Amino acid sequence: MSGFKQVVGRKIVDLDGAGLAERIAGASRVVVDVGTGEGRFVLDAARADPETFCIGIDAAADNMAKASRQASAKKSRLENALFLRGAAEHLPDALAGTAHEICVHYPWGSLMRIVAQPDVEHLARLAACGLPGATLSVLLNYSVFEDRDYLERLGMADIADPASSDALVPAYGEAGFTVTERSLLAGDPDVRTAWGRHLVRGSARRTLKIDAVRS
Ligand SMILES: C[S@@+](CC[C@H](N)C(=O)[O-])C[C@H]1O[C@@H](n2cnc3c(N)ncnc32)[C@H](O)[C@@H]1O
Repeated sequence: MSGFKQVVGRKIVDLDGAGLAERIAGASRVVVDVGTGEGRFVLDAARADPETFCIGIDAAADNMAKASRQASAKKSRLENALFLRGAAEHLPDALAGTAHEICVHYPWGSLMRIVAQPDVEHLARLAACGLPGATLSVLLNYSVFEDRDYLERLGMADIADPASSDALVPAYGEAGFTVTERSLLAGDPDVRTAWGRHLVRGSARRTLKIDAVRS
């Protein structure tokens, strides 16, 4: 896929590879947040550092409506934030080799499978977005994996425990990532995302953190 669907509020507009390159040009860092949901992480990262270009991607455009409206509004405009509608399985070719940092926070559905199983073919597509040495930060709602009945109802009972599976690190390797950390966290993680707060705050749920570097 070479084109993008850019989300601006409730509007979806076409953006081609040249348009993306133009937006990114001049940024010292590019962060790609896949499964961005409400896009809070992207807005925060873009506000924190104007030199960093932040791209939020989600399969569901509606989730990004508010954040993308904010990012394009006159008063709160962020030139360094962009929201794209797209599935992790079909990331646009023009994103290849652009990211310094790739994030996947509290994914569900097929995106959870990509990083938790992992689904090597599609994890490799995420890796392809990164420059050599790019970092990957994954945060998973670990309570899902502690409840095998729930996992079965999700149709994901075939996924081995990603916190302990011996197969996970080599599979990440096959996809182009060297895992640097795999640890279980209690309490709020150090990044602010809507689902991170919703799931973790005031609960006993733990987060599985997987960090990796594009090899
Ligand atoms: C639980 S929400 C987390 C949103 C955000 N990262 C956060 O932490 O608040 C999971 C998001 O993943 C998106 N998603 C699920 N599968 C996806 C896929 N294959 N490609 C892109 N986005 C996907 C959903 O649309 C949803 O917005």
